[in-house]
Amino acid sequence: MAQDLLIDCDPGIDDALALLLACGAPELNLIGVTTVAGNRSVEMTADNACRVLDLAGRHDVPVHAGCSHAITMPQARTNTVHGEDGLGGVELPRGRGATGQHAVDVIEQALLNGPAGRLTLVAIGPLTNLALAEIKRPGLLKRAQRVLVMGGAAFCDGNITPSAEFNFHADALAAQVVLGSGADLLLFGLDVTRQAGMPADWVDALGDLGNRCGPVARDLIRGFRRDKPLLHDTCPVAWLIAPQLFGAERCRVEVDWRPGLTEGHLAAKRVALARADFGSPVEVFTSVQSDALRELLRQRLARLP
Ligand code: BDR
Ligand code: CA
Repeated sequence: MAQDLLIDCDPGIDDALALLLACGAPELNLIGVTTVAGNRSVEMTADNACRVLDLAGRHDVPVHAGCSHAITMPQARTNTVHGEDGLGGVELPRGRGATGQHAVDVIEQALLNGPAGRLTLVAIGPLTNLALAEIKRPGLLKRAQRVLVMGGAAFCDGNITPSAEFNFHADALAAQVVLGSGADLLLFGLDVTRQAGMPADWVDALGDLGNRCGPVARDLIRGFRRDKPLLHDTCPVAWLIAPQLFGAERCRVEVDWRPGLTEGHLAAKRVALARADFGSPVEVFTSVQSDALRELLRQRLARLP
């Protein structure tokens, strides 16, 4: 039976690819998408999520906008790696908008309705929505079957500061709340996503898939304002389909949420070496078979309209 899935995101080019992968995967039942301020404003990320789902023919998947800035900051920490519009300048038709329901309420209801362990959460933007849902109802995230997070840089350099990855830096306190929630947590940070590159010939070939989504995916990737675009947000969704492609280490983790040079830093200690009073135990992913990951994405994009 397909796995019920809710994706919290901030599209974002690699978020868009993650949504397309989920839409092309019969193993997954995407019940909804919530959005947060991150790469761009929450209004824009919600709008972009609608456009991407409609592109994939998934008008049935509702989009709910959520938090507009981090818990401790008056404004969102955005970036322009994905272009001013968050989709690398690729113009997708706008058919509908987000529902009027707030993402935090949607996450809460999705986890409370039905038995515990039914729903999987994938969070690929700053963790503000998930953290506020957990603060509103302590213990809520433990009702998820698993919480898969793209964020952090455990054993490697950051990408937004020397020690922090963008999603964790954008709302470090939220990251700490989610990591400390006691949920079954799987962390796909830069340790693994930096291995998930996209060579130009692979990107070009997406244009030959014979559908409308393939050439759009190619153009989205070409819109990245980075020399070496990476499939960050695709990794957790891909794990749900093909976990054998990934390797992880059990670690105890904490996020430095205080303002300063190391804000958003993910401190990780392998469990065998960690003191029991340090942080929370999670799976930290450290390797991926990148050829096979790209092939999986290519095949699933080919299933889309
Ligand atoms: C993360 O930051 C965003 O720019 C991407 O969408 C991804 O979620 C990578 O650090
Ligand atoms: Ca993202």
